[in-house]
Amino acid sequence: MIEQRAHDGFALPAIGLGTYGLNGIAGAASVRSAVEAGYRLVDSAFNYENEGTVGRGVRDADADRASVIVTSKLPGRHHEFDAALRTVEESVYRTGLDAIDLYLIHWPNPAVGRYDEAWRALVEARDRGLVRHIGVSNFLPEHLERLEAETGVRPVVNQIELHPYFPQAEAVEYHRERGIIVEAWSPVGRGNDVTAQPVVGEIAAAHGVSPVQAILAWHVARGVVPLPKSADPGRQRENLAAAEVSLAPDEVAAITALGRPDGRLKGQDPAVYEEF
Ligand SMILES: NC(=O)c1ccc[n+]([C@@H]2O[C@H](COP(=O)([O-])OP(=O)(O)OC[C@H]3O[C@@H](n4cnc5c(N)ncnc54)[C@H](OP(=O)(O)O)[C@@H]3O)[C@@H](O)[C@H]2O)c1
Repeated sequence: MIEQRAHDGFALPAIGLGTYGLNGIAGAASVRSAVEAGYRLVDSAFNYENEGTVGRGVRDADADRASVIVTSKLPGRHHEFDAALRTVEESVYRTGLDAIDLYLIHWPNPAVGRYDEAWRALVEARDRGLVRHIGVSNFLPEHLERLEAETGVRPVVNQIELHPYFPQAEAVEYHRERGIIVEAWSPVGRGNDVTAQPVVGEIAAAHGVSPVQAILAWHVARGVVPLPKSADPGRQRENLAAAEVSLAPDEVAAITALGRPDGRLKGQDPAVYEEF
């Protein structure tokens, strides 16, 4: 399977599992089915209240634990150094795992302006072995550059909103140049009408795949790791199989052309949006 590799050699598989809304016993069964279907990257966040669900699904799955990259994220209300470290410790307890493989700052919350302090805490959490790799989510270039200028530590991942209506071409290039892997959240537009776009249907038909698979293949062709969420084992397998679909450059460009200046799903611009 194609991998994406960060500046320090850390590698992610081509496609991962989104988990927002997967909670409790049913959620753990969905995570388990995904891992048993071959997913080796699983998202979650302290604020999704499903680190326990994700950890349980991964532990129950008939798969080598060491081969699965479990992710979580630090909420905005815990950017202060000691609070951030306690939150990471709590995340690890919740998963029931020995450590979390990839830990991200969920949002920069620039109006508060303590994301650099949160980053120092993640560096410390990594040094203590609580987490193995550290990155960010929803960071703009100015936020990334401040982290690196102040700590000398560059994130390995930035998880951002990315789908055909919001393709973020400049951001994809910016991260590629710096060896920061881009993960796409809401990669299939959270089930919106993008899958009904004629151009997506034509490209899907040309490859004998579903519109959702065509969109996921578009992410993969751009060097982005999409994190489609599905509770359903059949759709999980369908989504993972999209990693094997190769789009031609003109097909990639045709899907990118669906982008709109106001293409964000809910207007969550990281320059001003705050999540605690
Ligand atoms: N960092 C952040 O700030 C942030 C923000 C939002 C999301 N995320 C992460 O990104 C993940 C993905 O984003 P998302 O959940 O918002 O949206 P998404 O993955 O784009 O879309 C999920 C929706 O699409 C449906 N779906 C999935 N595969 C399908 C298929 N093959 N055919 C038809 N329908 C399909 C799912 O339904 P079923 O479950 O019924 O299949 C669900 O309703 C989240 O789960 C979360 O882990 C991160």
